Amino acid sequence: MNEAIFLKACRREPTAYTPVWLMRQAGRYMAEYRALRERVSFLTLCKTPELAAQVTVEAVERLGVDAAIIFADILLIVEPMGVGLEFAQGDGPVIHRPVRSGTDVDRLREDDPRETLPFVFEAVRQARAGLPSHIPLIGFSGAPFTVASYMIEGGSSRNYIETKRLMYNDPGAWQALMERLVRIITAYANAQIAAGAQAVQLFDSWIGCLSPADYRTFILPHMKTLFAGLTSGTPVIHFGTDTSGLLELMAEAGGTVLGVDWRIDLDTAWRRVGYDRAVQGNLDPVTLFASQDEIRKQVRQILNMAHGRPGHIFNLGHGILPQTPVENVIALVKMVHEISGERKMKN
Ligand code: CP3
Repeated sequence: MNEAIFLKACRREPTAYTPVWLMRQAGRYMAEYRALRERVSFLTLCKTPELAAQVTVEAVERLGVDAAIIFADILLIVEPMGVGLEFAQGDGPVIHRPVRSGTDVDRLREDDPRETLPFVFEAVRQARAGLPSHIPLIGFSGAPFTVASYMIEGGSSRNYIETKRLMYNDPGAWQALMERLVRIITAYANAQIAAGAQAVQLFDSWIGCLSPADYRTFILPHMKTLFAGLTSGTPVIHFGTDTSGLLELMAEAGGTVLGVDWRIDLDTAWRRVGYDRAVQGNLDPVTLFASQDEIRKQVRQILNMAHGRPGHIFNLGHGILPQTPVENVIALVKMVHEISGERKMKN
């Protein structure tokens, strides 16, 4: 397993071709997933280890990717905190009792994730058992800011007004919330590693809404604590979108691999975070709606920007969209393997 090419790339060791996996590689763009979802709700799927493991393994078999990601959601950890979680049809996630004050933060429950979310760790065990031994399984969690943004806004958001209002107007409450989330996320990620995940990804999907100064003040210290608490020796992918203004700070916070979106050239991002760190990315997910010629052109561009340097993991810049043609996703994985393999043979 240590020789798996995804893990070698995390360690910046040379590989015969560039490993690839895709955020949201299991999901509604796949007919098998849609068929399953006709029978069970999204939350039931997440809470039924046999089904979550099946969806995880099926995506790998269908796509030929070099890593699996456990089927779960970044919002699962907020339900046991007592805020009320629902995935409403078509509307995305809804938090019934949003956190808006220090009193609300104090009321949040903080139980051991191993007791409150046992289904996730059981899904990790079953997925691990169902995967080929050379395919690493990635566990994941939302990062504190992104999880907090849902807890505070009550759902998805455009401008993060309530989140920033709490952060600016009540820094004590903000700190208490971050500290609580760091403890829960550390325990949650470490329990996934203990259950059989070979790597973890921290999704700080919406961190790009912050200024560098605010990242430094309100986020960086908590991210450092979080990274320090994760099981050492397990690679951690630190991912966010719209992070062009934050890359150095995110690198300073931590992570074996930095995940970047498509709004920045991969070579620029890599130079800025430093070549002593692996990078993951960064094809625009919407490129998968174009012709395969266009997809191939953009894959080449990204591989050229990685320069055959060890430590590049190919991925999208954000998750696969629900309407994506599945045949283009399968073709993308083949292209990455073929083009990077030819390139590396020449080197
Ligand atoms: O990558 C994978 O294949 C693993 C599964 C996974 C899901 N969510 C399944 C899911 C992962 C890694 C996530 C992470 C996640 N969840 C993020 C971070 C990644 C990102 O996209 O930025 C965020 C922000 C969430 C929160 C979330 N979950 C939202 C906003 C939504 C609704 C939007 C939507 O796409 O419907 C979800 C639901 C969700 N999570 C679905 C899946 C497959 C769709 C649910 C369905 O089947 O209807």
